[in-house]
Amino acid sequence: MEFKLAIACDHGGYELKKEILAYLDAQGIAYCDFGCDSTASVNYPEYAAKVCRAIEDGSCTRGILVCGTGIGMSIAANKHRGIRAACCSDTFSARMTRMHNDANVLCLGGRVVGVGLALDMVKLFVETEFEGGRHVERVAMLTALES
Ligand code: RB5
Repeated sequence: MEFKLAIACDHGGYELKKEILAYLDAQGIAYCDFGCDSTASVNYPEYAAKVCRAIEDGSCTRGILVCGTGIGMSIAANKHRGIRAACCSDTFSARMTRMHNDANVLCLGGRVVGVGLALDMVKLFVETEFEGGRHVERVAMLTALES
């Protein structure tokens, strides 16, 4: 399957999401944008669910969720089966959560991080592969917590 990102935001993340979409377009990275489409107030769990469902049904590979802090989106996303969402504010964490946690959703705070830092994290989140090895069993233990 072609690598494809699912992306969504709430009103607090809308401005940063626009910058991320421009970056993805410039890089030729395929994505599906699940809204929202303005700074009018919406409920972030609904947008987290759209991205998580796209990953769960296999139509998208990984996801990006942007709200004001990234925290609400990450709490909501981690309620979904098979989702390992990481709220990141630094590039080291964005890289390591791919390598060690096999995170499949990156959550960002549009009111927390600047555009340059956010785009660096998106790049690392897209490009970094899961390290496997000793981390496979640990990720399996996370999955086991779902049942
Ligand atoms: C919306 O005001 C804000 O609560 C939301 O964007 C997010 O930060 C929640 O965690």
